[in-house]
Amino acid sequence: MRRKLAAGNWKMNGLRADLTQLATLAEQRGYDVDVLICLPATLIGSCAGLPIAIGAQDCHTATHGAHTGDISAAMLADVGATHVITGHSERRTDHHETDAIVAAKSRAAHDAGLITIICIGETLVQREAGTTLDVIDAQLAGSVPDCATADNTVIAYEPIWAIGTGKVPTTDQIAQVHAHIHARLTARFADGAGFGILYGGSVKGDNAAAIFAVPHVTGALVGGASLKAVDFTPIIAAL
Ligand code: G3H
Repeated sequence: MRRKLAAGNWKMNGLRADLTQLATLAEQRGYDVDVLICLPATLIGSCAGLPIAIGAQDCHTATHGAHTGDISAAMLADVGATHVITGHSERRTDHHETDAIVAAKSRAAHDAGLITIICIGETLVQREAGTTLDVIDAQLAGSVPDCATADNTVIAYEPIWAIGTGKVPTTDQIAQVHAHIHARLTARFADGAGFGILYGGSVKGDNAAAIFAVPHVTGALVGGASLKAVDFTPIIAAL
């Protein structure tokens, strides 16, 4: 059975001094789940030797070339990353990333040997219009490349209205979307039933256990509460 995954996303937070948080997390190992922290690219190379998986938050579609300021998947792997987030809603919004770009980035990441955490999720307007599952279908079809497997891909369902807001869907709402994602992956991929499906959006120590009890939730993608070991540890423990 697939191990659960507690993934942190530090977003644009963290200086080298903050890596003490990872050392604290590492000291508390012993949980029967995988722990991953997706760091700003500047910090990834400083984490060699820590017994925690390290990921990145984005990569370019190309392997190398004239792309000032960008970082390739191979470069991330070279400094120790094992995972990369693709298609986070903040990148889809801030950098106008389309499903096609997300799929291309995910393919590039797989080619470099990285595991992708491909993010999908609806806006509040879409949720209130009743189109959540249509949005999920379109994002799954467009953002998840055909080369995806249960070994190289994890899906993260992140309702945009729940990110950083303290608002969390009901467990019934999470269950409906996760079951839908599971069914779509199972229909499309030979090993689709084995894909990890994370929930993300205002996961905290006090709501994690209820979320993790929902069928087809195999872990969490955690933003704010992953920055401090004292906040992330209860979430890991709840998995
Ligand atoms: O990648 C993480 C998500 O955007 C969730 O962020 O836990 O701060 O709501 P949050």
